[in-house]
Amino acid sequence: MYRPLSAVVLAAGEGTRMRSATPKMLHPLCGRPMILHVLDTLVQLPLERIVVVVGHGAEHVTKTVHEQLATEVPLEFVEQRVQRGTGDAASVGLTPFADSVDAEDDVLVLPGDTPLLRPETLAALATEHRLAEAAATLLTVELDAPDGYGRIIRDERGGVDRIVEHADASDEEQELREVNPSIYCFRRTYLAPALRRLNPENAQGEYYLTDVIEVLRRTGHLIVAVPGDDATEAMGVNDRAQLASAERVLRARINERWMREGVSMTDAERTYVDAGVELEPDVRLLPNVILEGRTVIGSGSVVGPDCRLVDTIVGEDVVIAQTVARETEIGDRATIGPFVSMRAGTRVAADAHVGTFVETKNADIGEGAKVPHLAYIGDAVIGPRANIGAGTITANYDGREKHRTRVGADAKTGSNTVLVAPVELGDGAYTGAGAVVTNDVPAGALAKGVPAQVEEGWARRRRQVADGSVDDEQD
Ligand code: UD1
Ligand code: CA
Repeated sequence: MYRPLSAVVLAAGEGTRMRSATPKMLHPLCGRPMILHVLDTLVQLPLERIVVVVGHGAEHVTKTVHEQLATEVPLEFVEQRVQRGTGDAASVGLTPFADSVDAEDDVLVLPGDTPLLRPETLAALATEHRLAEAAATLLTVELDAPDGYGRIIRDERGGVDRIVEHADASDEEQELREVNPSIYCFRRTYLAPALRRLNPENAQGEYYLTDVIEVLRRTGHLIVAVPGDDATEAMGVNDRAQLASAERVLRARINERWMREGVSMTDAERTYVDAGVELEPDVRLLPNVILEGRTVIGSGSVVGPDCRLVDTIVGEDVVIAQTVARETEIGDRATIGPFVSMRAGTRVAADAHVGTFVETKNADIGEGAKVPHLAYIGDAVIGPRANIGAGTITANYDGREKHRTRVGADAKTGSNTVLVAPVELGDGAYTGAGAVVTNDVPAGALAKGVPAQVEEGWARRRRQVADGSVDDEQD
C-alpha cells in the first residue's frame, strides 16, 4: 500500500561534547557542514516533506542550510526551544504534519549528527517497513566499541524488546554490541501517541525517543529491526574525535569515487578533497594535496605535492607544485610553483609560468607570460609573453590606497625592478636591473636602473682611516 514518506531530522541539541562556539550541526566534514551531509542524503529520496528540528544556534543553522541547499527541496524548520531530549524533539518535528489531511504516512526520524548515512540504506529501511506493515522499523549495527550508543535489547524470540541508553544500561547490557544508530521509520499515526507517553525518568532526565520502541511493543505494535551491513554509516558525531573519524571515512569515500572516475592519487590517504570539488579524468594528485570549496581541476593536470587550493579553477594539463592558491583561475598548460602563493583574484592565462617564491594577488598574468622567481605581483595586469625578472615587485600600496600596474605585451623587467603604482610599462618596453619605475614607460622604451657608483681604492682608504694613518675628514 502506498503511503507518503517524509523525514524529520533532529538537530536542536547543543552538542556540548564538541566544546565549541559553533553549533555542532555546522561543524564541517570535507568542507560541508554536518547537517548538510544528512540533508544531501535525504534529498535523494522521494520525500513529501523534510522537517528539520532546530534549537541550539537555530538561526545560524537555518541560514546555512538555506544558503547551501537547492531551493526546490520541500524543507521546513521547526524550533525546539528547550532541549528536553530526542523524544521531545521528535514531537516538535511532527507539529507541521498536524494540518495534513492524510495521517496515514510514514516518517523517517534521524539525527542530524549521522553524516555518513547513505540514501540506499534509508530507502531499504522504508521498504522493509512497508512490506512488514510495521509500526516502527529501525536500523541496527554491530560495533566493536559500542560505548555511548543505545543498546538493542532483544527478547527470547529475537525480536526487539526495547533500547537501553548507555547511561542507563546495566553492566551486562553494556556488553551488548548491537546498537541503535537512531535511524527509524515510523507510522506517524502510532508515533505521535507513543511520544506523548514518554517520561524523563532516566539517568539523563530527558525524553528519550528510544523509549517509544518499548511503548509501541507494549501496546501490541510490530517493531522490525533491519541490521545494517556497513557500521560506519551509523557513526554518530558527538565529539571532535568522532568528527575526525567520520571525516576520515567520508574522505576515503570521496577519494574512491574520484579514482573510479579516472583520477590518480599517489597516496589516497594523504589526499584531501572537499565534497564540493570537481575533478576531470586523468587528473593526478600527488601527496598532501588539499582541494577545498568549489575547486575544479581540468583533465591531465598534475597537482602536488603539498598544495592547498581553495575555490580555484584549474584548466587542462596544468602542473602545480607546492602552492597555496585561493580564488584563483589557472589556464591550460600553465606551470605553477614550486613555492607560490596565489591570493584572491589571481588569473593566470594559458601557457603562462609562475615560479619559485612568487606571490600574486588580484593579478592577471597574460598568455605565455613568465614570472619565474622571487616576485610580488599585486593589483596588476601582465601582458602576454611578458617576462618579469627575479625580484621584481609591484609597489601597489602607498600606505593609504592600492594602485594598479600594467605591464604591456612582450615587456621585460630587469631583476629587482620596483614598479611604483600607478604605473604602466608599454608593449615591448624594458626596465634595467634595479630600476625604480615611478613614471609610465612608453612602448619599446628602456627605463634604466641606477648604475652602481664605483669608487676606486675605497677599501684601502677605509683601512687607513681605521688605523689612523689617514684623517677621516680628508675625503
Ligand atoms: C542518541 C540515541 C542513542 C543512539 C545515538 C546514535 C536517544 C535518547 N539516544 O544518543 O540511542 O545510539 O543517538 O548516534 O535518542 N536533539 C534534539 N533535541 C534534543 C536532544 C537532541 O534535537 O532535545 C538532537 C541532537 O541535535 C542530535 C540528535 O538529536 O542530532 C541525537 O542527540 P544526541 O544528544 O547526540 O544523542 P546521543 O547521545 O548520541
Ligand atoms: Ca549523537
